[in-house]
Amino acid sequence: MIASRQEGDRSSGQFNIRVNQLRKVLRTSHGTEPLVAIDRLTFSVMAGEIACIVGRTGCGKSTFLNILAGLDHPTEGEITIGENTPYNAFDLFKGAVAVIFQQDRLLPWRTARENVELGLEILGISPGQRRETAEEWLTRLELSGFLNAYPGELSGGMRQRVAMARAFALDPQLLLVDEAFGHLDEVTARQLRVDFLKHASRRGTTVVMVTHQLEEAIETAEKIFVFGKPARLLAEIDTPAALSRMSKEELRTFIQETIDSNQPRQL
Ligand SMILES: Nc1ncnc2c1ncn2[C@@H]1O[C@H](COP(=O)(O)OP(=O)(O)OP(=O)(O)O)[C@@H](O)[C@H]1O
Ligand SMILES: [Mg+2]
Repeated sequence: MIASRQEGDRSSGQFNIRVNQLRKVLRTSHGTEPLVAIDRLTFSVMAGEIACIVGRTGCGKSTFLNILAGLDHPTEGEITIGENTPYNAFDLFKGAVAVIFQQDRLLPWRTARENVELGLEILGISPGQRRETAEEWLTRLELSGFLNAYPGELSGGMRQRVAMARAFALDPQLLLVDEAFGHLDEVTARQLRVDFLKHASRRGTTVVMVTHQLEEAIETAEKIFVFGKPARLLAEIDTPAALSRMSKEELRTFIQETIDSNQPRQL
């Protein structure tokens, strides 16, 4: 599947994401009332776009990303990626959708290279090809000296680079990122963001990245989606267009005020 995919496929629209009137109601162990985590969320991301989702803590960002990744079902409404829904056609998206989680989720008993090989192994790629791809990506992410190191021997930033290599090695059409750089120091996080964007835009990969850091969103995204609490769309921002009219600081203030007001706003 990976080998046969053409570069041209990426902009063909078959990976456009449409979120339509999405609702997710959760039962909690601590309350009698069900919790509305996502409330009639509607928006679209075009194939090849780099999109960031921002919103308060607990507003349903990770819940949304899990549904988009096909790991959970909505209560009402739907998400389509091209013609399909990720949670109903999980196998169809195997290898085409990769996730980088907040915690790197590396397997401690596998070396850096073996961790990167894991997804390729699941896709049935041959051992020689897996090894080559894993080494290539770890080298691109400046870990050529650590191919045989175990996660316990790596720093937080290095571990997150291995997680990034693992995602990129799949050559996914869609890359989902949940606060992957948020817990690192700012210098490391910034460098990782730069490297991440370089590789994602070179491949034309569609990116949906969740963050609560507004600077990260403004520096990273072509589109910023501001979520209310519970998750619904408060504002959709075309970042380059906004920055042609206002400074980064003004845009940051607008986004922060929108989040604080929890009401839909036009820029
Ligand atoms: N499995 C679950 N069962 C019950 N409630 C849940 C479950 N997962 C999340 N929640 C609740 O749903 C709401 C949304 O959680 P979610 O993790 O999606 O928020 P978030 O926006 O990702 O927050 P953060 O920025 O802190 O990561 C929260 O109130 C949370 O307590
Ligand atoms: Mg979260």
